[in-house]
Amino acid sequence: MSDMRAYLRAFKVFTGDLPEFDPEAVPATPEALFVEWLYAAVEAGVREPHAMTLSTLGTDGMPAGRVLVLKNIDEEGWQFAVHGESPKGQDLIAHPAAALTFYWSEQARQIRVRGPVRAESAERSAQDFLARPPGSRAEALLGRQSQTLASRDDLELAAKQSRERVDAEPDLVAKEWTLYTLRAETVEFWQGDAERKHTRVKYRRASEGWSRELLWP
Ligand SMILES: Cc1cc2nc3c(=O)[nH]c(=O)nc-3n(C[C@H](O)[C@H](O)[C@H](O)COP(=O)(O)O)c2cc1C
Repeated sequence: MSDMRAYLRAFKVFTGDLPEFDPEAVPATPEALFVEWLYAAVEAGVREPHAMTLSTLGTDGMPAGRVLVLKNIDEEGWQFAVHGESPKGQDLIAHPAAALTFYWSEQARQIRVRGPVRAESAERSAQDFLARPPGSRAEALLGRQSQTLASRDDLELAAKQSRERVDAEPDLVAKEWTLYTLRAETVEFWQGDAERKHTRVKYRRASEGWSRELLWP
């Protein structure tokens, strides 16, 4: 343990062939640049590029973060889905705003999105729910996410029963399942550089369209 500082310091970051990022040649909207970067991440072999950290303001006033998958992005914003009774679901009901952070280490790229969130209609949330594979639906129907689990046996039994319900009623929807759209106020694209002269471009929502600026590393 005494060598932990040295152990951590020995890890290299921003190594290998990193992609070009010309801040003069970016599209007018952050959604368009996100999609460009997403395709480039897939090309570069980034695993699970749709995994992102969702940060919320906890109901206890403390920040809270966890990894979630991105469901969609379009001109309306970034979409993700949560169980309304989970801690993150409760956070978003109490304080409907969030930050999303993507990190693609193979390319030394980070994307930071912040803004208010809007719960989509029950119909759109149900569509999202029903598009999930049966095992995921069974898990979501269990509810109780992040509550204390007394034993793994309890989970095994509840999961088996939930799966039987899903198989018997394939149209069953967890009514607390909520699709959210985050309407970005700011989006920052961060390209790491081995020399630490990182390139940072921040989009800000303006009265019409978006403004853009460079940031010091
Ligand atoms: C790659 C990855 C993807 C995940 N995707 C989801 C997801 O889509 N929905 C979800 O509820 N939890 C997902 N999780 C689990 C969450 O990180 C978290 O543990 C869970 O949602 C409970 O969070 P909460 O207590 O803040 O509500 C994922 C975890 C990882 C590592």
